[in-house]
Amino acid sequence: MPACPQAIVKMTLNADQIADTISRHIYGNFSEHLGHCIYGGIWVGEDSPIPNTRGIRNDVVAALKRLAVPNLRWPGGCFADEYHWMDGIGPRGTRPRMINTHWGGVVEDNSFGTHEFLDFCELIGTEPNITGNVGSGTVEEMSKWVEYLTFDGVSPMANLRKQNGRENPWKIKFWSVGNENWGCGGNMTAAFYADQYRRFATYCRNYGSNKLYKVACGPGGDDYNWTETIMKNIPFNMMDAISLHHYTLFGNWDVKGPATGFTESDYFTTLQKTLYMEELITRHSTIMDRYDPKRKVGLIVDEWGTWYDVEPGTNPGFLFQQSTMRDALIAGMNLNIFNNHCKRVRGANIAQLINVLQAVIFTEGDKMVLTPTFYVFEMYKVHQQAALIPISFKSPEYVLNGQSIPAVTASASRDKSGRIHITFTQADPHREIEVSAELMGVQAGGVTGTVLVSKELTAHNTFEKPEQVKSAVFNSAKLSKNTLTVKLPPASVVMVELY
Ligand code: AHR
Repeated sequence: MPACPQAIVKMTLNADQIADTISRHIYGNFSEHLGHCIYGGIWVGEDSPIPNTRGIRNDVVAALKRLAVPNLRWPGGCFADEYHWMDGIGPRGTRPRMINTHWGGVVEDNSFGTHEFLDFCELIGTEPNITGNVGSGTVEEMSKWVEYLTFDGVSPMANLRKQNGRENPWKIKFWSVGNENWGCGGNMTAAFYADQYRRFATYCRNYGSNKLYKVACGPGGDDYNWTETIMKNIPFNMMDAISLHHYTLFGNWDVKGPATGFTESDYFTTLQKTLYMEELITRHSTIMDRYDPKRKVGLIVDEWGTWYDVEPGTNPGFLFQQSTMRDALIAGMNLNIFNNHCKRVRGANIAQLINVLQAVIFTEGDKMVLTPTFYVFEMYKVHQQAALIPISFKSPEYVLNGQSIPAVTASASRDKSGRIHITFTQADPHREIEVSAELMGVQAGGVTGTVLVSKELTAHNTFEKPEQVKSAVFNSAKLSKNTLTVKLPPASVVMVELY
């Protein structure tokens, strides 16, 4: 790549204007019964030679603890609106075997069900985020699931739970009433879904001290009418948030483009497309502001990430794709957008956890590898529950083929111990960009950091070469009085800590 002159960006960090908290739930993840996310990725069964705890992979548990995953969405996705939770409880040998019609037509033996999922959540220290079935389920079925999970007393469902080995109820907060009900979740109109939501949500009870945080199915992409209809027709005492789903596609739904082996022009286009998330959140928030100026209802981007063509030779229904430095940049850019919109964005879930779409982990047999996106989540976890610091700057442009996008995105926060963290993405592969930040209301004694960078935009980790892309200590940040200077390498993700 030809070298271009270095650019200098002036930035102001307004730590004296802190107002909002970045919810840790922006760093959520998603595990669906799809391809090898659950089976092979999380669950190998108790009799597997792969080291496991009650059937759950030990290597995956150890890796995920590094990310402090705040919540995990399950069982789908589209799978959720075909899932009947009673199929996944009781002795595993007696659970029904069925076809996973959405994802590859493979046999689903229900060996990973409610108890196994909640065991996994406890092992990795995350909060469960469950999606109930509206599309093909009943109000009674959903209501009984809530009772089974959370009722502490004598009742048919609480008794059944105890019979299945769990005496105490679980604490369940996140509860989605259906998934993509405008599409795979029943092809409903917005008005019809809003009525269905009111019915289903009525019978999802708060038992004892358990308080459900109910999430209504929100729009797919730019369906602003859906947001408008939901906000107009569902009373705010019945819902805590609405969801938003948006994937970054390089091409279109027919030809999505390869996950590796792309050109710089493909790289540029994919990044340009991912920046559309900023417009989507702004416009959906503007609609929500009209109905809910006090921001009682949150926006939860509970499906986002890149979606490419599956790797050649793999099952098209399994959505397995490699993950490169391009994906790392995309993860960092979206997380910066969510942080900066934390007034309304209360959560997000990248799709998906393991072996599916923009995964943070790949597994194959007993092998495991961390993707570039894993390292971004590890670098950015410092923002969880930290106070957002407003920043202002004008990014230099990354120009290619007569088009341009901002080269730099950033977000900043102060954590409970007073440390300040700034995360940057620098998309321009041809030059270093120097940021000179004036620090307002900051008292810091030193600076350190972490960087994710690679010579090739297409660099990725494989089972044979698992450490082609991994984070390293960042030494190019300097602090002098109240000015911070950061030299961002070409095509990099950087986290800087002021302590
Ligand atoms: O994440 C893959 C699929 O994408 C989910 O099942 C669905 O909700 C979305 O369309």
